[in-house]
Amino acid sequence: MDPPGAPRPPGAPLRCRLFLAVCWVVAAGPAAGAKVLPPPSNLDYSFIQICTLNWTWNPPENVSSSCNLEYSSDIVIDEVPQDKREWSKSRFRVTDTFLNEEMRFKVRSECKYDNTSEPSRWVETSLLPKGIPGTAAVDLSCVWHNLEYMVCTWRPGENASSDTNYMLFYWFDGLKNRKKCSNYSMQQGIFECIFNLSFPKVTSIYPAISILIRDDSEEIRPVCASKNPTTLVKPATPRRVTLSKINDEIYVEWSESDTFPENCLFYEVEYHNGDLDSAHIIKVENNHTSIPTVDPNSKYIFKVRAKPKPECYSSKLYSDWSEEKSIGEKMDNTFYFVLIITIPLIVAVSTIILLVYLKRLKVLILPPIPDPREILKRMFGEQNEDAQSYAKDDSVNAYDRLTKEEEIHSLVLTETPACTNFVKENQ
Ligand SMILES: *[C@@H]1O[C@H](CO)[C@@H](O)[C@H](O)[C@H]1NC(C)=O
Ligand SMILES: *[C@@H]1O[C@H](CO)[C@@H](O)[C@H](O)[C@H]1NC(C)=O
Ligand SMILES: *[C@@H]1O[C@H](CO)[C@@H](O)[C@H](O)[C@H]1NC(C)=O
Ligand SMILES: *[C@@H]1O[C@H](CO)[C@@H](O)[C@H](O)[C@H]1NC(C)=O
Ligand SMILES: *[C@@H]1O[C@H](CO)[C@@H](O)[C@H](O)[C@H]1NC(C)=O
Ligand SMILES: *[C@@H]1O[C@H](CO)[C@@H](O)[C@H](O)[C@H]1NC(C)=O
Repeated sequence: MDPPGAPRPPGAPLRCRLFLAVCWVVAAGPAAGAKVLPPPSNLDYSFIQICTLNWTWNPPENVSSSCNLEYSSDIVIDEVPQDKREWSKSRFRVTDTFLNEEMRFKVRSECKYDNTSEPSRWVETSLLPKGIPGTAAVDLSCVWHNLEYMVCTWRPGENASSDTNYMLFYWFDGLKNRKKCSNYSMQQGIFECIFNLSFPKVTSIYPAISILIRDDSEEIRPVCASKNPTTLVKPATPRRVTLSKINDEIYVEWSESDTFPENCLFYEVEYHNGDLDSAHIIKVENNHTSIPTVDPNSKYIFKVRAKPKPECYSSKLYSDWSEEKSIGEKMDNTFYFVLIITIPLIVAVSTIILLVYLKRLKVLILPPIPDPREILKRMFGEQNEDAQSYAKDDSVNAYDRLTKEEEIHSLVLTETPACTNFVKENQ
């Protein structure tokens, strides 16, 4: 992890090494005549806050009064020079520490503007990380919600046991003592802690927030980070979004966060016509705006979010989008949904009813066609009986019989062609 506040450009180590080499050459040059200064002594450090160290040393002995004595100091982290060289007359230097890496501090004495003496050798001391490697919390990230509370999340180190109870402490300049975060939660392996953090509204410069995550167990490696709160600002979601129609314009208004100073937020209003997919985004400085030339037959859907102004905060975080609000004539989605469900249902039910009704209607209009076999059977049964009686009759009766038969014949013919064939075969 590379905590913020300790930028290490890729080229830095090489540049520093070269720089040191140059120093060495320069120092070696006039060695013949120049007097080498004695180094500072008793280099030591102490914690003045959770993540802040005070490095202290004593002055060198026997330095001539003509020497304009200064101390040059530098920091090396995990063998990488940090290019944070400083010169000072005071006998201490305050630095941040990250605790999860080896930190080496080095200092030497120099006589400024004096080419008759040579800087002393470097004096070094180092602060070694405690605990087992890979047990420190990783991926620490914090968001400052609405200038009211800080939410920090992190994951356990890969070598940390599952019952590790990480604790979060924080401190910033202006706070007497470090504070312990107490509102913890853990979800899907991600730890979270929330603590209140607010400053008077007139404040425009915020102190860096030191955050320490550790466990009571000696085995868990502690880790420190320094956070610049203005880069972490996330405004609250705009609430009470209201829409109204004024003439042919839609007027949108929402409530402003009261924790931000005046003119430190701007808003993005996103709206789209219910029929078209492309959304429009407009930037607004106040808590209201109007959208002109409204199509009165369309539904419009709006949502709003806030972003800190760069003049006030260097945060790039937007608020969450407000809930969507809509205005317009168009039927809303639930109505469409109901329609989609009910229309086929109505169609299906009415089809069934219609079919049942039709069946009855058919009975009325087209009575069931009688089976022709039955008719014929009945008919010919009678005919045979008649024939027997006719046989005894005279020719007049025989003629009568023939015409009767013809009548039946033509009757059968008018019924269906199939019947005709059947009758013919039987004849
Ligand atoms: C660091 O320690 C020195 C020596 O004890 C002290 O004079 C100095 O005030 C300390 N610095 C801070 C910032 O506490
Ligand atoms: C400082 O000077 C004194 C006397 O001039 C001498 O006794 C002492 O050894 C010197 N100390 C160092 C560290 O050079
Ligand atoms: C030191 O610097 C001064 C002027 O910069 C020069 O006159 C003098 O010769 C130099 N002495 C040595 C020992 O280099
Ligand atoms: C975890 O522990 C193993 C074995 O001790 C070690 O090799 C590894 O580097 C550790 N992981 C980390 C991230 O330090
Ligand atoms: C802890 O955080 C939750 C989630 O934001 C919040 O609802 C709750 O009020 C907090 N509890 C305390 C004691 O601050
Ligand atoms: C919008 O801002 C004005 C003036 O600051 C305020 O009076 C009004 O209540 C705000 N609107 C909403 C919905 O909060």
